[in-house]
Amino acid sequence: MRRKIIAANWKMNKTFSEAMALIEEIKSQLSQIKNRKSIVIIAPPYPYLKSVADKLKDIENVFVAAQNCYSQEQGAYTGEVSADMVKSVGADYVIIGHSERRNYFKEESSLLAEKIKAALKNNLLPIYCVGETLQQRESGKCGDVVRKQIEEVLFSLSKNDFSKIIIAYEPVWAIGTGLNATSEQAQAIHSYIRTIVKEKYGSETSENTSILYGGSCTEKNAAELFGCKDVDGGLIGGASLNAKSFTEIIKHISEKK
Ligand code: 13P
Repeated sequence: MRRKIIAANWKMNKTFSEAMALIEEIKSQLSQIKNRKSIVIIAPPYPYLKSVADKLKDIENVFVAAQNCYSQEQGAYTGEVSADMVKSVGADYVIIGHSERRNYFKEESSLLAEKIKAALKNNLLPIYCVGETLQQRESGKCGDVVRKQIEEVLFSLSKNDFSKIIIAYEPVWAIGTGLNATSEQAQAIHSYIRTIVKEKYGSETSENTSILYGGSCTEKNAAELFGCKDVDGGLIGGASLNAKSFTEIIKHISEKK
């Protein structure tokens, strides 16, 4: 079944005590939303994963994600963290292929495909990010870029493994800029992503794939974006660092049929 999902990507923000205060506030705000049907996922920095997971463990439909993991199981990879380690501290999801990882850390398709496999092997569900730069959009390459990002990284997966993937469409030009994609732009590319998935895995898998939108999504534009037929929720950066804003965004999807 296609799930409605709101995920918070805290990126490299907050000290430990600030993070603990934020999670307490989010918990308290979430308890005030009645009949929430959506899944909420929080992705804090690595050092806070266990504490955040412990605080959220009794809340229904709330999970923890890492913002990254390495492709190798264990060994001499100074500074890296394996999927197994992430799983062992209570996370159930992992963000893979965020544009900041692709851009600043030069992560390419071959590595991302290995990361996805490592995550799945360790029962971590990947949130796989795709999205074009402004230049790519302006030169009419948006669809091709997203297709390549999906084909190169996901299409060696079996149908069963692919069904565990959540896709997040995050146009690079919208991330942290205050300039979100319009609902028309989001719907067009989300629908195209569903077509790409359908071509490879068939319509049942494609209809069941959750496709999230990310990039300057706030409580002001969430309702419109989430109102699109093929937008199944959001991956929220800046606005997820404020408990009130984040829960307002969650309400916009909870109210959806
Ligand atoms: P912003 O919501 O801050 O634009 O970030 C989006 C994002 O990159 C989430 O992964």
